[in-house]
Amino acid sequence: MVELGVNVDHVATVRQARRTYEPDPVWAAVQCELAGADQITVHLREDRRHIQDRDVEVLVKTVQTRVNLEMAVSAPILRFALRVRPACACLVPEKRQEVTTEGGLDIVRGFARIKQVTGRLKARGIAVSHFIDADPKQIEAAAKAGADSVELHTGTYANARSERARAREFKKLASGGALATELGLRLHAGHGLNYLNVGPVAALPKMRELNIGHALVARAIFCGLPEAVREMKRLIDRAAP
Ligand code: PXP
Repeated sequence: MVELGVNVDHVATVRQARRTYEPDPVWAAVQCELAGADQITVHLREDRRHIQDRDVEVLVKTVQTRVNLEMAVSAPILRFALRVRPACACLVPEKRQEVTTEGGLDIVRGFARIKQVTGRLKARGIAVSHFIDADPKQIEAAAKAGADSVELHTGTYANARSERARAREFKKLASGGALATELGLRLHAGHGLNYLNVGPVAALPKMRELNIGHALVARAIFCGLPEAVREMKRLIDRAAP
């Protein structure tokens, strides 16, 4: 079974546009879970542009499935994660000026620090994933650094301008996924996935989890969050082997 992690960051984006209390990502998380989401994912960015500390704290206490905290490898965010203890953490690269996460984490370059942060999170009972490009060197480094899983960055696949480019990117995801599972890592994927492109990624052998945000929240504006989640679950279930 391929699980769906719903990223509710963009519910908070709408709230932060007016610095008010609605729409509440906690309320969104309840609706997602009732509609079949297997996990709630949030990215507590260092600039707090959408999700706030309070959101993660309340989500950890209320979510019935599990909370997956996307986090930069930074000391203050690590302290926060160790205190709040989400079920899972996904280490991601983060730049202040970016619109969204660009590219995967460079585990090879930041190996010592990433290994240390991974170890500290795991020692608190938090399952750790590394968000990386489907590059064999990065996958091997993630395994050596102690990750439980890798989340393969699907942004380049999702944004490919031609079918040829998309097929090329998909091949990288397929071979990266095979290497990751051979090394004993759980296989996850995410970024830029939507109702049109999710099928082949969900069908990759041993795929376990997809984290999807923008497409779901965008669709929810027109049909409501429960229907948006149910439709994505249907597509994943239909595609998954
Ligand atoms: N996975 C990771 C690691 C991410 O950083 C994001 C974006 O926050 C997502 C998944 C979800 O991406 P999208 O909003 O494009 O579905």
